Amino acid sequence: MAHQSDLIASDINAYLKAHENKSLLRFITCGSVDDGKSTLIGRLLYESKLIFEDHLTALEAESKKMGTQGEELDLALLVDGLAAEREQGITIDVAYRFFSTEKRKFIVADTPGHEQYTRNMATGASTADLAIMMIDARKGVLTQTKRHSFIISMLGVKHVVLAINKMDLVDYSQKVFNEIDEAYRAFAAPLGLKHIVAIPMSALRGDNIITASNMTDWYQGPTLMQHLETVQVEAEEQAKPFRMPVQWVNRPNLDFRGFSGEIVSGRIRPGDKIKALPSARESQVAKIVTYDGELPEACAGQSVTLTLTDEIDISRGDMIAAAASPCAVADQFETRILWMSDQPMLPGRPYLMKVGTRTVTAMPAQPKYKVNVNTLEELAAKQLELNEIGVCNIALDQQIPFDPYDENRKTGGFILIDRLTNNTVGMGLLNFALRRAANIHWQAMDIDKDARASLKNQKPAILWFTGLSGSGKSTIANLLERKLHGINRHTTSLDGDNVRHGLNRDLGFTDADRVENIRRVAEVSKLMVESGLITLVSFISPFRSERQMARNVVAPDEFIEIFVDTPLNVAEQRDVKGLYKKARAGEIKNFTGIDSPYEPPRSAEIHIDTTKLTAEEAADQIFAYLEERGYLG
Ligand code: ADX
Repeated sequence: MAHQSDLIASDINAYLKAHENKSLLRFITCGSVDDGKSTLIGRLLYESKLIFEDHLTALEAESKKMGTQGEELDLALLVDGLAAEREQGITIDVAYRFFSTEKRKFIVADTPGHEQYTRNMATGASTADLAIMMIDARKGVLTQTKRHSFIISMLGVKHVVLAINKMDLVDYSQKVFNEIDEAYRAFAAPLGLKHIVAIPMSALRGDNIITASNMTDWYQGPTLMQHLETVQVEAEEQAKPFRMPVQWVNRPNLDFRGFSGEIVSGRIRPGDKIKALPSARESQVAKIVTYDGELPEACAGQSVTLTLTDEIDISRGDMIAAAASPCAVADQFETRILWMSDQPMLPGRPYLMKVGTRTVTAMPAQPKYKVNVNTLEELAAKQLELNEIGVCNIALDQQIPFDPYDENRKTGGFILIDRLTNNTVGMGLLNFALRRAANIHWQAMDIDKDARASLKNQKPAILWFTGLSGSGKSTIANLLERKLHGINRHTTSLDGDNVRHGLNRDLGFTDADRVENIRRVAEVSKLMVESGLITLVSFISPFRSERQMARNVVAPDEFIEIFVDTPLNVAEQRDVKGLYKKARAGEIKNFTGIDSPYEPPRSAEIHIDTTKLTAEEAADQIFAYLEERGYLG
C-alpha cells in the first residue's frame, strides 16, 4: 500500500514510467482546526512514506518539544509547517501537497476552515475531484460543516468522504456514526451532493485510514485510502464532449499551422469533426502532434497541438469543440460569484474576466441576492464584500464560447481581475446565458454623428471635469460654455448636482452608487456626442476606474479629461455650499475627501491648478486647447 518502490534504485526509468501512467486524484480536506484535518493529511503522507528521513527526525524532536501527543509523533506538525500558524493553531493559506501510492497519484489541497478564509477554501475546491469532510464524532454536523458543504457543492465537487473522526473518543459507537451520517445526508441532498461515503475513523490512531480497524467490526466499507485509490473520477471528464481552449497558435513555418492547448474534456482522434468558436467554422482534425510524436488519440488532461484539414481562422482564446456537440456562445450571463478582495465588488464597474485562455471586459449588475453561507438564506445585496457569495448578472464586451459550470467546470468557470491593480478579486461560475440581448440588433441610421456635427461646424467631444466638491468644476464649465455659445458652438452641460435631481435621483454616495452615477452619465454623454454636441460633464467622479470607463464609451479624441485640481484644505476653506462643515461634524456620511476617497487623474489631457489660475483663466486655457486641436471647426 505505502509507496516506496524498489524500482527507484534498480530501474529509475521504469519507475518514472509507471508513475506517469498512474491516474491522478485531486482532493480537498474541509473541517475546522481541531477536527483533525492536519493529523489526517500528516498520516496519509507518513504512511505513503514520502517523508524524508531528516524531516522525520526533526518531527520526532519537535513532537517531544511540543508535547501535544505524549511520546507519539504529532503528525499535525508535519502539515502545519509554519511556526506562526502553529502558535495560532490555524492554517492560513491553501497548501497543496503531493503524494502517491502504487495505484494512484494524489494532490491534496489543505485549506483553513474559518469563514474569513472562504476564498482560500473555494480556490482549493475549484480543482478538486473529491472533498474529505472532517467531522468530530463528539460534535456532529456543525455550522461550518454546512458552510463547507455549500461551497464544495457550488464548485461542483461531486464526491464527498464524510470522515467521522475521533471515533476513539466515542467508544467507536456505531449509533453515533449512523446518526451523524443520517443528519449529514439529510442536509446534503438538497445541495445536490450525491456521492457520499461515510467512514468511521481516528486519524490519530490510524483507524480505517490505511488499514481496516478492528475496533469498528460493524463497519464493512472501505478504508479512506482504499476509497481514495479506487473512486472513479477521470471517466467523467473524458465522457464529456471534446473541448480545447486554444493557448497559442503554433506557426513555426508557412507549412505548419497548429493549435496548442490543454484538452479540458472529452477525447479526440485524427479525422474527428471539430467546430471553432466563436467563429463557428468547421473542419477536421488532421494530426495530433506532441513533443513525443503524433498520437492516434488524446484525451482530457493532455496538452497537444492539433492540425486541421482546412485553413480556418482560429486565435488564442478561441475554443475548439466537438462539431456534433459544440459549446454555446454568449455575452451576457447569470453567474455565481465569490468575492475575494478587501475592496467590495461594485455593480457597473468594469473588471477583466478570464475564462479559459480568453480575457474580456465584464461588468456585473447589482446582485440579485447574496447567500448567507452559514444558513444558506438568500439576502438582498447592493454589492459583494470579501468572502461573500452572490448571484449576479454580468455583461461582457464580446461573445465568448462557454458551457454552464454545472455541465463543465473547465469551460464554465472564470476569475475576475481588477483592471488597475491586476489583482484577482473574484471567482465565478457561469449559470446560463441571458438571451435578452440576443434579439436586439443595432439599428443603422442614415443621419449619423458626423452628419450632425458638420451641420454644427464643430467636432463633438466630452469635456470631462473631475475634482473634489467645491473645486470649481461647475464654475469653470459654466464660463467655458458661455464662451463657446458666444461663438455659436453647440453645447450641452451635465452637472452632478443637477443630474442627481432627475435621472440619478435614486442614487446616493456609497461607492456602488457613485459607480452607477458615472456609468449612466457616461452613457448619456455618449448620446450627446452622437448628436454632435460639445458636452461639458462636471462630476466629482472620484474613481479612476469609472473615468476610464467613460473614456472608453467614445473614440479616443472625443474624450478630454480636465482635472480641476484644488487641494482639500482649499476646497474646505472655500466651502461654498457649507457641506465640508457638515461632513466634518459627521452630519454627512461618505463625503469625498473626508471619509470617501478621491483618486486624482494620472494623465488628464488638461490640468487646472486653481490655486494659480482664476476660473476665467482656466476657461480660456480649455478654450485654447479646443481651438488648437480643431474641435471648434
Ligand atoms: S460623484 O462622486 O458621484 O461623481 P457628484 O458629482 O454626482 O458625485 O455629486 C457631487 C455633489 O453632491 C457635490 O458637489 C455636493 O454638492 C453633493 N454631495 C452631497 N453629499 C455628498 C457626498 N457625500 N460626497 C460628495 N458630494 C456630495
